[in-house]
Amino acid sequence: MTTTSVSPETLAARAAYILRGNDTGELTTAAPQLYPHLWSWDAAFVAIGLATLSVPRAIAELRTLLRAQWRTGMLPHIVFGPDQGYFPGPDVWDCGVAAAAPAGVQTSGICQPPVHAIAVRRVLDAGRRNGGADRELAERFAAETFDQWLAWHRWLATARDPSRRGLLEIFHGWESGMDNSPRWDRAYSAVVPGAHMPVDRRHDLQHVADAGQRPTDEEYQRYLWLMHQMHEARYDDDAVRETVDFRVTDVFMSGVAALASEVLAELGDEFGRRAEADELRELAARFRAGVLSAVSPQTGLARDEDVRTGERFEVLSVGGFAPLLCGGDPAVTAHQLDLLTGPQWCGHPDLLYAVPPSTAPAYPGFQARTYWRGPQWPFLNWLLWWALRRHGATGLATKIRAEALRQLSDLAFGEYYEPFTGEALGSAHQSWTAAVALDWLLAAD
Ligand code: SER
Repeated sequence: MTTTSVSPETLAARAAYILRGNDTGELTTAAPQLYPHLWSWDAAFVAIGLATLSVPRAIAELRTLLRAQWRTGMLPHIVFGPDQGYFPGPDVWDCGVAAAAPAGVQTSGICQPPVHAIAVRRVLDAGRRNGGADRELAERFAAETFDQWLAWHRWLATARDPSRRGLLEIFHGWESGMDNSPRWDRAYSAVVPGAHMPVDRRHDLQHVADAGQRPTDEEYQRYLWLMHQMHEARYDDDAVRETVDFRVTDVFMSGVAALASEVLAELGDEFGRRAEADELRELAARFRAGVLSAVSPQTGLARDEDVRTGERFEVLSVGGFAPLLCGGDPAVTAHQLDLLTGPQWCGHPDLLYAVPPSTAPAYPGFQARTYWRGPQWPFLNWLLWWALRRHGATGLATKIRAEALRQLSDLAFGEYYEPFTGEALGSAHQSWTAAVALDWLLAAD
């Protein structure tokens, strides 16, 4: 595959066209066909991209997500729009059985990594940069919705870290956003569906030509079984924790929570919410300590853990770089920066673009074309770039941005990319891919 070189103007114009094309009004679909609804962490990145085009539209996207917030504080991982073509859709989730589900909107019954405070920060920055009505709108939005984001972080801290270890638990691989990553192979191998889980309605395979780029049917049967168990427990936080067959701590989600809690604390400072800002800083410290406690002396990467057996998974996944999101220990950060730039990751000699693959090529479970088992993900490059800059690793951040933009110059805006050939895989015209390109090209810093 050859690399096309396009001007930043062309790339930005095309990204804006993609993002606008996926806009259904108040909801930007995560992708045109494969993902015809709003996904929680996708929406945060989409808002970051939209903020470069229209601050009011970026705010509308985040408000759509907030309208779907559960009474517990949870932000659901999918907010369903009117499109009928997705499996598992609202009929399968059937969240009406849950006491905490919101009224008037259909959602899934699980969550995704809490990156949203970063989006609020970015939208606020865009509003202030533009001035005038945008500034006023963005400031009002951030102040008005602060309590909803706070409720989301408080829910994570209580429902998903009940023993206050600083490590968030997840009950489904979808909650990690890294669905079929080798991070979860061991835990999933113990999940044995207790009933027939029909996968013939799978919608994804109708939109991705090569099934090898997606999770297998066997994996989907397990995914559906866990959904079934959660539905049986009426999506009640305590009941789910006691009954579900998949219970792991997610170190990457915990790193995101540490970073985002700190960002939200800074917003609290700005809006005179001192007590809440202190509370959020404590949460950030707790999650940071949790992440650092999970670093493997063997690999230098942070590990997920099976809560039921206590086993820590030694997997060479990009999720192991969680300490680069939250910082907190200069020695760990220095070692991880060496690893990230070294020959197992961005410095791998066969990579077409020096951005981290989702799984290290040397890892036995690596698959170059399969979703979270090898391909590179542009939104993840943006998150790393943003966190690295925040922690002062500006040189590496600049390199990652440059390489990631080179990768996007094929104008495909793929969901993920084959790391050796640069082929765009999964869905084309993925919203968060276009969104991060826009932020990189049009936001001021
Ligand atoms: N990521 C999942 C999918 O592939 C849903 O959350 O459909």
